[in-house]
Amino acid sequence: MTQKILVLPGDGIGPEITAQASRILAACQAHGLDVEVEEALVGGSAYDAHGEPLPAETLEKARAARAILLGAVGGPKWDKLEDLAKRPEKGLLGLRKNLGLFANLRPAITYPQLAEASSLKPELVAGLDIMIVRELTGGIYFGQPRGIEERNGERVGFNTYVYSESEIERIGRVAFEMASKRGRKLCSVDKANVLEVTILWREVMERLAPEYPDVELSHMYVDNAAMQLVRAPKQFDVMVTGNMFGDILSDAAAMLTGSIGMLPSASLNESGQGMYEPCHGSAPDIAGKGIANPLATILSVAMMLRYSLDAPALAQRIEDAVGKVLDDGLRTADIASEGTRIVSTAEMGDAVLAAFEAL
Ligand code: IPM
Ligand code: MG
Repeated sequence: MTQKILVLPGDGIGPEITAQASRILAACQAHGLDVEVEEALVGGSAYDAHGEPLPAETLEKARAARAILLGAVGGPKWDKLEDLAKRPEKGLLGLRKNLGLFANLRPAITYPQLAEASSLKPELVAGLDIMIVRELTGGIYFGQPRGIEERNGERVGFNTYVYSESEIERIGRVAFEMASKRGRKLCSVDKANVLEVTILWREVMERLAPEYPDVELSHMYVDNAAMQLVRAPKQFDVMVTGNMFGDILSDAAAMLTGSIGMLPSASLNESGQGMYEPCHGSAPDIAGKGIANPLATILSVAMMLRYSLDAPALAQRIEDAVGKVLDDGLRTADIASEGTRIVSTAEMGDAVLAAFEAL
């Protein structure tokens, strides 16, 4: 059956990088991938066109799609919008919530060719391969009540950090299963020394552990986890944590690898429908210059093939093509080092496509 894919270029460098990823997707179609690809607006560009960061038409197309490829949203142009509900980020959060994309997989892999580009010593990051499993539709991002209101003559801002047992359990299961297919080590990150919600989180993880006897479960407070990530990141295999801690730790982990411009991500719901996006943002400072790194978005297509479209061979072929291009010394500016050749966004797309066809 033909599956639908929705491409949401978004803002900033989003359109440039998704254009290159779409070329790879088209190449996969030529190699037998039975998909139909559509595009729609999200984020600031949707706000400019329709007054909403997530127009009804986009949401409808997203619901109908088996998988969504998203570039990036946001930029200074929309940062002054006072109504938080109109900010580009709401487009992203709305998609996550409406589609129930609760499981966010954020790999942090150091490509051997790029170990020198890390801010840490190469020996600390060479061979690094961490998978952060972040809960994406609950926690403090979505908890009620929330707001800013007047109390005793001054304004007070408040949010609610809340998780139900069932929410913790379903993300826990994704993480245990992921760990059992990888290095069999799962570190659950919480703040159980201070926050009740994460005392419950820890209890649920403990309760699940006997069902996954091949996985070794450990727990770590989030502050320590941040420190350990920059001290000795290779101690981690799979990490599981809530929405906000996962947001923060995944940025730190991404940077360890030398370039956030290389890292894809997947956000899945219970039926395997998924949204795939690069871990980096919309990089408004370089938007339109044709120098952005399209590899994270191209690698997001590979993740899409693996997790939503059941096409692991094509996924592998894309990943191998990216490896080949790096071996050949091609780099966009963000990952360039001595002895490598700096190429544009489109030239990088050309090179990956050529390597993909040659494999
Ligand atoms: C991310 C981003 C988003 C988040 C923003 C853009 C809403 O930082 O995907 O990590 O906080 O989840
Ligand atoms: Mg983030």
